[in-house]
This record gives sequence, C-alpha cells and structure tokens, in this order.
Amino acid sequence: MNGRKIILAIGLVSAILLVNSLSRGGAVTATITVQADKPGAKISPTMWGIFFEDINFGADGGLYAELVKNRSFEFPNPMMGWSKIPPGSTAGLIEILDQDPFNDVNPHYLRIKVTRDGEDFGVSNEGFRGMGIRQGEDYAFSAQVRAVQGRPALRIELVANNGHKLTTARLNRFTKQWEKHSVTLRAATTELKARLNIYVEGPGAIDIDMVSLFPEKTWKNRPNGLRADLVQMLADLKPGFIKFPGGFLTEGRRLDNRYQWKMTVGDLAERKLMINAFNKFRPRPTPDYFQSYGLGFFEYFQLCEDLGAEPQPVLNCGMAAQFSGEMAPLNQLGPYIQDALDLIEFANGPITSPWGKKRAEMGHPQPFNLKTIRLGNEQVGPHYVERYEQFARVLKAKHPEIKLIAGTGPEPAGNNFKFAWNKLRELKADILDEHAHKQPDWFFSNVTRYDTYDRNGPKVMAGEYAAHSEPGLINPNNRSNLECALSEAAFLTGLERNADVVVMSCYAPLFAHVDAWQWTPDLIWFDNLNAYGTPSYYVQQMFSCSRGDVVLPLDVHTSHTPRLYASAVRDNQTGEIILKTVNPLKAPVETHINLSGARVTSSAKAIILTGSKLTDENSFEAPKNIFPVEEFVRNVSTSFNYSFRPYSVTVLRLSAETTSASETSKIRLSEQ
Ligand code: AHR
Repeated sequence: MNGRKIILAIGLVSAILLVNSLSRGGAVTATITVQADKPGAKISPTMWGIFFEDINFGADGGLYAELVKNRSFEFPNPMMGWSKIPPGSTAGLIEILDQDPFNDVNPHYLRIKVTRDGEDFGVSNEGFRGMGIRQGEDYAFSAQVRAVQGRPALRIELVANNGHKLTTARLNRFTKQWEKHSVTLRAATTELKARLNIYVEGPGAIDIDMVSLFPEKTWKNRPNGLRADLVQMLADLKPGFIKFPGGFLTEGRRLDNRYQWKMTVGDLAERKLMINAFNKFRPRPTPDYFQSYGLGFFEYFQLCEDLGAEPQPVLNCGMAAQFSGEMAPLNQLGPYIQDALDLIEFANGPITSPWGKKRAEMGHPQPFNLKTIRLGNEQVGPHYVERYEQFARVLKAKHPEIKLIAGTGPEPAGNNFKFAWNKLRELKADILDEHAHKQPDWFFSNVTRYDTYDRNGPKVMAGEYAAHSEPGLINPNNRSNLECALSEAAFLTGLERNADVVVMSCYAPLFAHVDAWQWTPDLIWFDNLNAYGTPSYYVQQMFSCSRGDVVLPLDVHTSHTPRLYASAVRDNQTGEIILKTVNPLKAPVETHINLSGARVTSSAKAIILTGSKLTDENSFEAPKNIFPVEEFVRNVSTSFNYSFRPYSVTVLRLSAETTSASETSKIRLSEQ
C-alpha cells in the first residue's frame, strides 16, 4: 500500500468508527487544557499577512481604479480594447502613430481624423471587461490631446452595455501642443459593464494619448488611486504585512519581462508598459493582460502604510521562471543587486539620496520603514542558492538591518525543498518561505508540521498556501469551499502554536476578477462593482483579528478522529485568553475546557464560522453564506463545557482575570 492509500484507509476506518459511535448515540467529546500561566513564544506582528499578486486582473482591472484599458495605446496590438464607432463608419480615419509623441517611453498615440463632418465618428474603450459605474458618483476623464487640423471638439460619453447613454461632456480649445484636458462625468444610473465613447466633432483631426477615466471615490479619494471597496476588504483583514507584487509575475517568462520596480515609479505616463506573465497562462490565457504600472512600488508602499502593514517587496533574483532556463550569469548579477540596494534607498533613504529624493518628489519624504525583502520566487537548486548567496553577501554588508527571505521552491517537500533548506540554513538565511497549494488532506495532515522544526535555524514564512478542492496545481475547477477553509484553519492553528519558528504567513492568490481570472482558488472575488470574500477569507480574518501576543501551551484530547484542532494565545493589552478551534466533523464536539492558572469572567465572546455542507461557498448572490457570527457565551469559568459546532472554526475570547492587579502586571512585564 502506498502512503496515500494508507491515509485513505485510516480515514475510512476513522469515518466508520465515527459513524458507529454516533449511531450508538455516543457524542464526540474532547478535552482542551490551556496553560494560561505558562506563556510561550511571542507572536510576531507579521504573523498574518497578505500576498498581493498581479494575477487574475489583480492590479489593472482590479485594485488599480483606472477604468480605461490600454490607455496609452502601447499594447502590442495598439487598438486592443479600443474600437471605431460607429462600427464600419467611413466618416473618418483612425491611425496609431509614434512621431513627435507625448513621451518617448510610451510613444504610441491615436490620431482621429474626421473626413465627413456632421456624422458621429470616434472611438470606444471597453474597459476591463466593462467599466463599473455608480449612479450619482463622479468620474474624472482626462487625456493628453493636441489639435492636428482644424478646431475639433471632443464629446465624451459613458454608455451602458445596451447602448443607453449614462452621461455626456465636452472638451475643446485644443492647441498644437500636447496638453492634459480633463472633465468630470456624473453617471445617471449604475452600470456593471459600461463603455467610454469619445467622438470628434467638427472637421479636423486630433492626437490623443493617456486616456483615463477614474472614479473620484477611490481609497482615501486619491487621484490615480485604488478601488475603495477592494482596499477595504484588505483593511478588514488587518494584515501584518503585504507581500507584493507577485510570485511568478516577478520572475517573468523571460528576464526582459521580469518585474523591475524602477519601471513602476515616477511620472505615470513614463512607466513603460509591460506584458503580464499571466497573459499566456494556460488553461486560461488572457491576451489583454498587461501592466500599466499605474499601481507601482510607490503606491504599494503607500498601501502598506495606510493599512499599518509592513511592506514586503519581492525582487527578481536574476532568474526568469525556471522553465525558461534563462538566468543572468553569476558575474552579471550587479544590476539586479543594485536594484535591491536602490529599493532600500527608495524606501528608507534620506531625501538627499537620489532614490530618497525620488520618493520625496512623489509625495512621501518620510521613509516607508522597509524591513524585509523577498529574493526570487519559486526558483530551486544550486542556481538559485548561488544567486541568493551573492545578493545576501552585498545586502547584509550594506544593510544588516534588512531581513532577507529566501525561497524553498514550489513544493513543501521533496529533493528541491530539502536542498534549499540545507543550503540556506548553512548560509544562515533569516527566513525561508514555503509554498503549499495542496488539497485539504495535506493541510490537515500538516497541522503538526512545524512542531519538530529546528528552533535554531532560519525562521519560516508560510508565504503561499491555499487548499485546493481539486487535484493538480492548476485546476480551473477548484472551488473555495468550507472544507478548504476548515483545513486551512486547522493548519493555521499549527502555525500559531509554533510562533517561535513561524513568523509570517499569507494565502495566495488574493484577488480574482470573475471575468478575467487565470487561477483558482482565490481569497477575494470581484467584478467591476462588487466583491466578496471566500470562506478562506473569513478564516484569515478570524486569525488575524485575534492575533494575540503570546502563545499559550495547550493539550487537546478528542474521542474521535479526525480530531479537534486548537491553539491558544493571550492578548497582553486586554488580558484575554483567545482559543481558536477547528471542528472538521459533521457532529458537534462536546468539549471540556480547562484554563489552568487563570480565572476568567463568567461570560465570553465566541466568533463562529460554520456551514451545513463541506461544499458550501460564498458568491455574489450570497456573499455571507459562510461568514463568522458573534455569540455571547455564558457560564464560563476556569473549567467549563462548550459545544463546538459541526464543521466550524471558533474563536473563543475569554476575559481572563488574575488574582490581583500586580500579578497581571507581573505576567505582562515578564513577556516584554
Ligand atoms: O499563487 C499563484 C502562483 O502560484 C504564484 O505566482 C506562484 O508563485 C505559485 O506557483
């Protein structure tokens, strides 16, 4: 019998025992003992973070609120996203040119020439699978325009999917020079898939570039801002860090399309367009997936600051995606390492330094307080380790204050994984990032994974994980259901219990546009106006919002397998004991809870996520089908009974009292 068959057999026997026991009327019981007076490891403030990758239209078409796709006509097909209106019209001509451009970095622009006056003629932009427009809200249209012939005007319209006009505005008085022209549009109705129409009125010709339409209500109402509803979903997770801008995205399919942060800062119009690595991703290629870099490194750092999260940039390590076989020779890593040094200066350097000055010019003279950098993504083997070593040698010498996170490959086991661990341990890497895109049984059976990790080696970041309902790494049939969320929650109890080793964790991927995704499962699904969290999202939130400060040792005894999973922490500010449990069974678990060394008040709060079927999910129609609810728990003492619901994740927040105030302060002081 192979390993998988043995696990299946054990599972079957357990299930039979459970069914027999339940049919005989025997309740599932458990005992949990928390040693409240024996606080263990401190929990890192970065324990629960998020990983933003520009996948699934995460940035352009997602978090970045720009509504115009291909605004600077730089896609390889420069008219992608644009079309002539009315279709087939012969009242004018459209042409893509690059002579005497608005800027040399993104040189293409559109010329619209009206040859038959009095007829509608222009272009239409389809947005990112449409444009989300809200009734009564303002939208800022802007474009670089110059008059080439005559004195034409522009008529700007937002139209619904069915052609119904939502609003109109006009722009005129163009000169022979490139100039930015702007107008505000207010929509009469809400539309999920609107379009932007631009008509040229009057005989003549204009050149147009950097065509933009932005909601004025962005996150913090910033121009060039982020979608407020999506950022709010992130803020509600209270992330300890944000890793950005991606994994595979940063590798690139080839080195020349790797992510280079310097291309993403400074003047918007001069951020050179780049193909997105997920453009050709099978089985769901997305030919219109490019990076405008409107959401670039400055904006990522700003987002981290807004959310009180540590920034964690990922930098290319001199290797493209390993399947390409392309890598910078070891003696040509200089520019890659320089990018890392310059990034530290951009984030933390004084405004008198070249990159610190750039940060200040972009509106942020204060440093961004960068503390960690992730080098490379899922590269493996000696090529990766050799490159990591060169980066580390320089970065550690010049910036010992910056912690470096190294990768262990795409798999959480196997030869590549072991090789990475052995070598990177020898190199005394600060933190090693482990990835696990696996089915729920992997998460359940890895709850104790970190119990036996070396306490003297590198720390661990569970830097990409997600339970997949279907087999295989890339399976478009994956669902984000309750079973996946329960298995992740069980795994998270293991991370929390091992907070002396595990210092960071984040689910992947974070976002997916319902009409433009490449990868599933994802934490948050959105369309052009709405978003909802999967059950996994709420699991993240339950852990992150009840992080606590120190781990409390605990024992769990269950009468059945699979068992009840649990971890406990204490919040030093409130004094609360926070017990997190996962019941993966279809039956309730009648549990006796002992809190040794503490006295608790007679009531407590329970935050419970549960559902009736393991296949339960959330959706746009029922976004809170699986959602944590709060309950008041009575009759709590140092020894009390509690029934954990079937298929549930429960956070019990118990207000702990100690015998005297001085004792409380003694406990708190001992943990400083
Ligand atoms: O999370 C999606 C992808 O999975 C990441 O880009 C990559 O690092 C991993 O293989």
